[in-house]
Amino acid sequence: MRRDVPPPDGPGTPPRLSVVGTGYLGTTYAACYAELGHRVTGLDTDPVKIAALAAGEVPFHEPGLAELVRRGLDAGRLSFTTDPAHAAAGAEAHLICVGTPQRADGTGADLGQVAAAVRALAPHLHGRTLVVGKSTVPVGTAEWVERLLRKHAPDDADPEVAWCPEFLQEGRAVEDVLRPDRIVVGARGSWARETLARVHRGVYRLAAHEGRDVPTVETDFATAELVKSAANAFLATKISFINAMAELCEATGADVAGLAEALGHDDRIGPRFLRAGVGFGGGCLPKDIRALQARAHQLGAGAAVRFLHEVDLINQRRRERVLQLAGELLDCVAGPNGPELSGTRIAVLGAAFKPDSDDVRDAPALAVARLLHGAGARVRVYDPLGRDNARRTHPELGYADGLEQACTGADLVCVLTEWQEFRDADPAALARVVNGRIVIDGRNCLDRYAWNAAGWTYRGLGWKEAA
Ligand code: UGA
Repeated sequence: MRRDVPPPDGPGTPPRLSVVGTGYLGTTYAACYAELGHRVTGLDTDPVKIAALAAGEVPFHEPGLAELVRRGLDAGRLSFTTDPAHAAAGAEAHLICVGTPQRADGTGADLGQVAAAVRALAPHLHGRTLVVGKSTVPVGTAEWVERLLRKHAPDDADPEVAWCPEFLQEGRAVEDVLRPDRIVVGARGSWARETLARVHRGVYRLAAHEGRDVPTVETDFATAELVKSAANAFLATKISFINAMAELCEATGADVAGLAEALGHDDRIGPRFLRAGVGFGGGCLPKDIRALQARAHQLGAGAAVRFLHEVDLINQRRRERVLQLAGELLDCVAGPNGPELSGTRIAVLGAAFKPDSDDVRDAPALAVARLLHGAGARVRVYDPLGRDNARRTHPELGYADGLEQACTGADLVCVLTEWQEFRDADPAALARVVNGRIVIDGRNCLDRYAWNAAGWTYRGLGWKEAA
C-alpha cells in the first residue's frame, strides 16, 4: 500500500460518516475514510466483531487494513459500536455496506441485511441526511430503501438515498477504496450529489496530489445498481470464456496459455482475467451472476442474460474436470458419477478462492477437494491463510499445516490456488516425500518443465499431453 495520503485540510470539515456493516466492505471503507480525515463510526450487530475492531484487530485478512484501523482509532477519528443511535448521531451520510448473499431458497440476492440495516438506522435519523448504498444489490433496491426509510424514520427526518457501488477486490481493497478507478453516483437530486462530492473529496484530493483523475459517472439509481452487477458479470464471462477455450484446447491439442497470451495482446481484449484454470469463486462473482439472472427474470428480461447460466456451467465444469483428470491419472474405475477414488491419497494445495486471501467462500479449491473426497479419496488440504476457515466450513476434509506435510505419502498433488509458496515449491524435494509423482496444476501456475525434469507427470488445465 502506498502511504502518501495527504493530511486532511482545506475549507470545510469532511462530513461525519456512519458505516453500517463491518465486514470486508464496511471495515475497509470505515478505515480508509477515517484515513482521509472523516470521523467515522462503524456499526454492526455482531458484538464480537465490534469488540475486535475497537481493539484494532481485523478478523479477516486484508493487507494494510489493520494498520489503517489502528491509525484511525489512535487518531480518534474511527470508532465502532453496536448501537445504531450512537452511530447515527451527528453523521451526515450513512454508508450501507452489509452483505447481500445468495438466498438459501434460490439464486436471487438476500436483502435481509439491507432491510435490517435500514430499519435499525432509520429511527435515529433527524433532519437532512444521506443514506448511501454501497452493497451489491438487484435493480430496484434503492427505491425500496427510500420507501423503507419513509416508513421507519421519524417525522423530523428528511433522509435521501444515493447508490454508489464499490468495485474493491479482496487483497487490494484498501488501494481500491483510496484510489478507485471510477466513482459511480446514482442520485435523484443535486443535494445528494453535492453531499457525495464532499464525501468523496478526500479521494479526489489524493488523486490530484498524485496527478491522477478519478472518472465519475453521475447517473440514476437503476444504472448505478446495474453497473456493479454488469461489471462482475463481465469479469465472470471473461474467465469462463477462456475456460471454454481451455476445453477446446484439451480437445484439439492447443495450449490455452499461449492462446490467452496471444488474445491478450489485442488492446480491445486485454490480458487480465484470462487466466484459465479451475475458474472463479469467492463471495462475489458466483452469487452476483446468479442474482443478476434472477432479477432479470423477475423483470421479464431473463433472455438477455441467459448466457450467464452457461458462464456458470462452464465454471462448474472446470471443477469437475479436475476430478475426471484425477481418475484418469490414478487409473481409477469411472462410472456415470465419475471416478471411484477409494484407496488413493490426494494432496490439495489451496483452499482460499484466490491467493493472498483467507476467504474460502465458494472457493474452487475447496469445491474440488470435496469432489475428490466424495469420490472416496483421502484428501489432505493445505492453504497458507485459508486453512482455519476451511477447517471450520468443511470439517469432513483432512488438513495439513504445511506444504510438505500435505504432500507426504500422496499419490497425486493438486494445486488449486496459485499461492506464491506453491509456485516456489521445489519439485525435486516434493518428489522425495510423495508416493506418486503426479501433479494437476489447476491454476496453470507451475513451471511444467521444471516439474517434468524432477520426474513428475504434470497435467495442467487447457492443453493435451502429447500422445
Ligand atoms: C470481484 C471483482 O473483481 C471486484 O471488482 C468486485 O468489486 C468484487 O468482486 C465484489 O463484487 O465485491 P474478488 O471477489 O475480490 O473481486 O475477486 P477477483 O479478483 O475478481 O477473483 C474472482 C475469482 O476469479 C477468483 O476465484 C480468481 O481465482 C478467479 N480468476 C480471476 C480466474 O480464475 N482467472 C482470472 O483470470 C482471474
